Amino acid sequence: MDLSTNYLGLRLPHPLVAGASPLVDDLSMVQRLADAGASAIVMHSLFEEQVRGEALARERFHDAHAHSHAEAPTYLPQPEEFRLGPDEYLEQIRRIRRRVPVPVIASLNGTSEGSWLRYGPLMEEAGAAAIELNLYELVTSCDVSSYEIERNAIDLVRAVSRSVRIPVAVKLSPFYTALPAFARALVDAGASGLVLFNRFYQADIDPDALEVVRTLRLSTSSELNLRLRWIAILSSQVRTSYAASGGVHDARDAVRAVMAGADCVQVVSALLRHGPERMGELVRELREWLEQHEYDSLDQAKGSMNLKRCPDPRGFERANYVQVLQSWRFE
Ligand SMILES: Cc1cc2nc3c(=O)[nH]c(=O)nc-3n(C[C@H](O)[C@H](O)[C@H](O)COP(=O)(O)O)c2cc1C
Repeated sequence: MDLSTNYLGLRLPHPLVAGASPLVDDLSMVQRLADAGASAIVMHSLFEEQVRGEALARERFHDAHAHSHAEAPTYLPQPEEFRLGPDEYLEQIRRIRRRVPVPVIASLNGTSEGSWLRYGPLMEEAGAAAIELNLYELVTSCDVSSYEIERNAIDLVRAVSRSVRIPVAVKLSPFYTALPAFARALVDAGASGLVLFNRFYQADIDPDALEVVRTLRLSTSSELNLRLRWIAILSSQVRTSYAASGGVHDARDAVRAVMAGADCVQVVSALLRHGPERMGELVRELREWLEQHEYDSLDQAKGSMNLKRCPDPRGFERANYVQVLQSWRFE
């Protein structure tokens, strides 16, 4: 069974990729992921705030008037709270490259152009096979329009893509008004692929303590449907590489993502919950599923249920919403 796939121009032996997570901080975990057969490994992100914070911290150290920095981002984690500082991050890419023969995808996470983007070329130099640019943003101001947000993002993608020779994938949130047009603009600006989607970690309220509580819950398969719909819609219209991220827990989930049009399937929660060895089981189960259902190759399944090829495209469109609401029956 030929499970090979092309993602961002990288020829991968199968579509199962270890998505961005803290697993990469520990070389023994990286080794276990490689032993389990991960076809690529995505680093967790290097954050714009982190690079800025470090520069600011260095400045403060040398600056007698340290406390005059009005913009000191005290509400953000301090440089020492990030797992790896920017230089250690680059060193970790080198260590992983020396340790395992698996392509490493570095991750940049930020929203505005600036000197932090110099880390793109440095990641390339350190041996990254590609860069994932995570555009996670939570806009809370009434003064910022969707047009502005998208234009900034497009400019950022253009700047990063031009600064490196390796491919750049863009990791998006699902909350854009007109995702197909935006996706096409990102690809026109130089993106080689789209990663759908970021997961937003919802803040909770503790009503007794009157506190906003941070929560980090791992995903379940129920989150995959949102990804399936948008990969099915986009992959039938915007030619680029697609990665599904969010809600892949078993081989059936991976098959569903591939049928929607995903070139690769990123897994995080399942690896954090069950350990890196889960990757090996997923690859085995994916092969078995395709064999049992008489596919010759992964390519044969890829995109077979996208918006253009599925038997009833209304399932992905507004008609589905109307039908689903009408289908409720009281017992
Ligand atoms: C503990 C943890 C850390 C993560 N760190 C990052 C990160 O640094 N950058 C990033 O783009 N995504 C990060 N993610 C998001 C994952 O890459 C992935 O998009 C998300 O967990 C959905 O996939 P899943 O359902 O397989 O978990 C993180 C997720 C978890 C659970």
